[in-house]
Parts: sequence; structure tokens; C-alpha cells
Amino acid sequence: MTDDLGRAAMEGSGFYNRHSALQAAGVAALADIWARACDAVPVGEGVVRIVDLASSQGRNSMAPMRIAIDTIRRRTGPARPIEIIHTDLPSNDFSSLFDAVFADDSSYLRNASAIFPLAIGRSYFEPLLPPDSVHLAWNTWSMQWMARNVINASDHVLAGMSKSEEVLSAVATQQQEDWAQFLSLRSAELVHGGRLLTAFTARTDIETGWEWLLGELWEAICDLVGQGLLSREEATRMTIPIGLRQLRDLAAPFNDTGAYAGLKIEHLELKQTANPHWNDFLKTGDKDEFARRHAEATRAWAGPTLALALTSHHDPQVSLDAIFARHAERLARDPKQHEPYMVVGVFVKDK
Ligand SMILES: C[S@@+](CC[C@H](N)C(=O)[O-])C[C@H]1O[C@@H](n2cnc3c(N)ncnc32)[C@H](O)[C@@H]1O
Repeated sequence: MTDDLGRAAMEGSGFYNRHSALQAAGVAALADIWARACDAVPVGEGVVRIVDLASSQGRNSMAPMRIAIDTIRRRTGPARPIEIIHTDLPSNDFSSLFDAVFADDSSYLRNASAIFPLAIGRSYFEPLLPPDSVHLAWNTWSMQWMARNVINASDHVLAGMSKSEEVLSAVATQQQEDWAQFLSLRSAELVHGGRLLTAFTARTDIETGWEWLLGELWEAICDLVGQGLLSREEATRMTIPIGLRQLRDLAAPFNDTGAYAGLKIEHLELKQTANPHWNDFLKTGDKDEFARRHAEATRAWAGPTLALALTSHHDPQVSLDAIFARHAERLARDPKQHEPYMVVGVFVKDK
């Protein structure tokens, strides 16, 4: 199932859960910032509502939800009911999410009572919950995705890494709109004093951090075009609707007054995330294993969207196997330390 917006959710059957150690490393780096937000939020007397926006298949949400539960319960005692609402696109693999929540050893439900998990299959560019009802909103590794695919790039697999001025300008415009809309919608849902933490891949003035990994993916696709396995049109349609913002793009709506749509910035920072596969590679020197892990991790988030570009006479799984086998071959030639940038913002509802 796709969402008819030029992109799909993550690779299903729990594949994303099994191949998202890089994102998990980014999530781990947010623990202290998130704990401070959980400590600061006013929780009143009734049910505490926490929203996990863009949960995917859930495994990377377990640790931050556990931090939120523990921090809040230290303040309220163990009996306070807490709702955890996971949201993602309708095409998300929600079965794997529920497996992770109800069966994983790492689940936040382990050794906790009065925790109520729920899920919503709807884009967060729509209203998701009633006004003034959310205490904490958590969101990682998703806001780089645009609300829709606005333009195809013929020179790169990632819209935001094209060299075309036309493509870059269309991406920038869409991302400004998306950011403003996301903030406004979440602000309406937060209680007074509620916190939104959002962290997603971003860039510096000079680099994206994705040059090696996604440059090689684009070259792998071009290799298959050269071999007649994909058409040039399919390669052009293989434009992942992602752009990489800079820190100043997040701050932009807040510029005049320090406030936007009832929110204020509590924390804003650009971090470079650690790559757990690199240390393993330094120990083993196994280039093929290092390359395979990166190709699988890339397939987990990009594969279903690339498959949307294929014409009907291609079997998507066969084509994706070929693309990512070639990707792995290319990556193994010259392994590099892939440490993407991640921007993290914490916003507090002030009005
Ligand atoms: C890379 S995964 C991140 C999953 C998890 N939060 C993590 O940190 O590992 C990105 C997720 O964002 C979701 N996503 C993208 N656009 C979305 C939207 N407009 N509304 C809701 N979810 C969206 C995708 O379906 C996918 O599950």
C-alpha cells in the first residue's frame, strides 16, 4: 500500500525494525534532552498523553517512551494512567508496531502498569488529536520527508541533493510550508506547557553528511540503467522526496518575536550522529559486511519509495534486490564513516 504522495512508508514485515541501528544511535543521543522535557511538562491531575509521531514499526520508540514513563511516574507516583499514541502513515506496517509494543523484551510495557498504547494511521500534516490534549510529542527521523513529491530530480536519488536550482528551490519552498504546518498543528494539540521534541536529518552550510551513501545509491541506479535493467525515466522518477534543512530553517518562523503559533524554542542544536557499524568495521575490517549493513539500512527507509517509480513490467522486489546488491558492491570498494547530521528542536507551548 502507498499513500499516493510520491513516497511510501518503510520496508514492511519488520524490516525497518531490524535495520535501523543508525536511527537508534541518533535516538539514544537525545535521551538527556528528552528527559528534561519530560521533567518540565506540567502533567495536571488526569491521564497523561504522549504522542510518538512517525513511529514506523516501533522499536526505536521503546527507549524514549520508557524515559517519558519513568520520568513522569517519578513525579506522579506509579498509578497515573499514561496513553502512548503511535502515529504514522496509513501504509505503515502497524502489525510489526503492535508486535514490538506487546511482545518485545524492550517494550515500555514491561514492568509497567496503567500504560495504554494506541495507534493512528494518518499523516501528521493533518490534525491528529483534539486541541489542548497532548502533554508530550516525540518525533524522530521523519521531518526530512516532504508532505508530497513536488519535483523529480534527474541527477540524484534525493531531491534535496540535486544540483538543479529549480529542484532545490521547489524543495525549499515545500519544506518551509511543511515546517510551518507541522508546528501549527502540533501546537494546537499541546496543552499549555506541553513539549514537542523533533529531531531529523539535516545539513551544515557545506555538507549533508549523506554524500557518500546516497551518491553511491544514485550511481548504483545509473549502473542498472546502463545495463538496461532500469529505464532512464524510472531512474528520474526515483526521486526520494527528502530535503535537508539547516538549523536556521527551523528557527526561521520564530524570527521576529521568538514565538510562532503559540510555541517557543526551548532547545535547538545540530548534532552529528554516531555510526555503530563503523566501530565494528574497525575491529573486523570486513568491508562486505559493512557495505551490506549500510545497503540494507538504506533499503529499509528508501526501498518502498524507489519501488513506486518502477513500471508495471518490473517485479519491485527483483529490482530492489538488484539496486541494493549493486549499492553494496559500490560501498564495499571504499568504506567511509557515514555520520549524518541531525537537528534537534524542543518547543514549548507558551500560549
Ligand atoms: C525513518 S522512519 C523513523 C521511524 C522512527 N521514528 C525512528 O526514529 O526510527 C520515518 C517514518 O516517518 C514516517 N512518515 C513520513 N512522512 C510522514 C507523515 N507525513 N506523517 C506520518 N508519518 C510520516 C514514515 O512512514 C516512517 O515510518
